[in-house]
Amino acid sequence: MAVLNRIADFHADMTAWRHEIHAHPETAFEEHRTSAFVAQRLKEFGIDVHQGLAGTGVVGTLKGSGKNGRSIALRADMDALHLHEKNEFAHASKNPGKMHACGHDGHTTMLLGAARYLAETKNFDGTVHFIFQPAEENEGGARVMIEQGLFEKFPVEAVYGMHNWPGHSVGTIAVRKGPMMAAYDVFEIVVRGRGGHGAMPHQGVDPVVTAAQIVTSLQTISSRNTDPLDAVVVSVTQIHGGDTWNVIPDEVVLRGTTRSFRPEVHKSIEPAIRRIAEGVAQAHGAQIAGFRYEMRYPPTVNTADETDLAAKAAIAVIGEQNLVRDPTPSMGAEDFAFMLQAKPGSYVWIGNGPTEGSCLLHNPHYDFNDQVLPIGASYWATLVEQTLPRRA
Ligand code: NI
Repeated sequence: MAVLNRIADFHADMTAWRHEIHAHPETAFEEHRTSAFVAQRLKEFGIDVHQGLAGTGVVGTLKGSGKNGRSIALRADMDALHLHEKNEFAHASKNPGKMHACGHDGHTTMLLGAARYLAETKNFDGTVHFIFQPAEENEGGARVMIEQGLFEKFPVEAVYGMHNWPGHSVGTIAVRKGPMMAAYDVFEIVVRGRGGHGAMPHQGVDPVVTAAQIVTSLQTISSRNTDPLDAVVVSVTQIHGGDTWNVIPDEVVLRGTTRSFRPEVHKSIEPAIRRIAEGVAQAHGAQIAGFRYEMRYPPTVNTADETDLAAKAAIAVIGEQNLVRDPTPSMGAEDFAFMLQAKPGSYVWIGNGPTEGSCLLHNPHYDFNDQVLPIGASYWATLVEQTLPRRA
């Protein structure tokens, strides 16, 4: 392991920042305290700070030594989840119902650590923009920052992202050219029948039975409609209907999410869900009274050249033997995908250690592994120094 010595020196500071952020989790577009904390640290490091993109977004801009006009961006996410933390350590969430269960506290801290080091050393030639974004979870804070002019205000040739990955050992970094995370969509189906007495189902049209058959039939999208070598997930995650024992309700609402990688597959899911829902409803004399399909995040697709640069920087920090090449992509999703649609770049996974003790993403016992902080910060700093090298 070759973490940068100067970064190892302030490991304790980074740990304190991480615990401070962890104890005060804030959710989508409400990251006011976190955003102010980040802006304050950046200013202390002597970095120019821009605030207000997507509300709570922060961008720090640092010029290195020399006159090189090139620039790159590094991105961290700041938001927490709607989840009640079950940890009891001192830095556990003080905001009931909100929790840093995805490690964005660690991501924010690692980028702050890199910013501090790079501002002290300036051992690079060009400009680096440190992007701290709100609302990675569900709400697409990255997309909002881009729509509000992120890359017009801060033009860059490439953008880089990182996420911690439980189950990968501490001291590893995983890189992959092409798709890394899936496209993420959501859907809602309102099944309308005709409600009545639970004892006399023949008098009405039962939306519960219809909805149940829709749920199972939707599984044929992956098993019968999609090439077996293409990945697709259709998950019904909510079923709402009925209030009591002996009444067949008028309506049942189904909601869920889909995941996919290839654009052709992605585009085929909505019409398939609609076809199945309407067909099954018709077969039972029911109706689809409402149908909504929203494309939320595109797939996260890394460009080849930038992934080579990411791998090179990772190897300099963790060694070739700890670089995980071509991990199986995740069906999880990531709004960094919008940044990769706008700019070339690469998104890596940094090992967070074993998943024992429920240290899984989005688990109420999760905690970001503080051992990872200097590794991630060193990776960021090395990526900048290698990608924007000073001329000898
Ligand atoms: Ni996350």
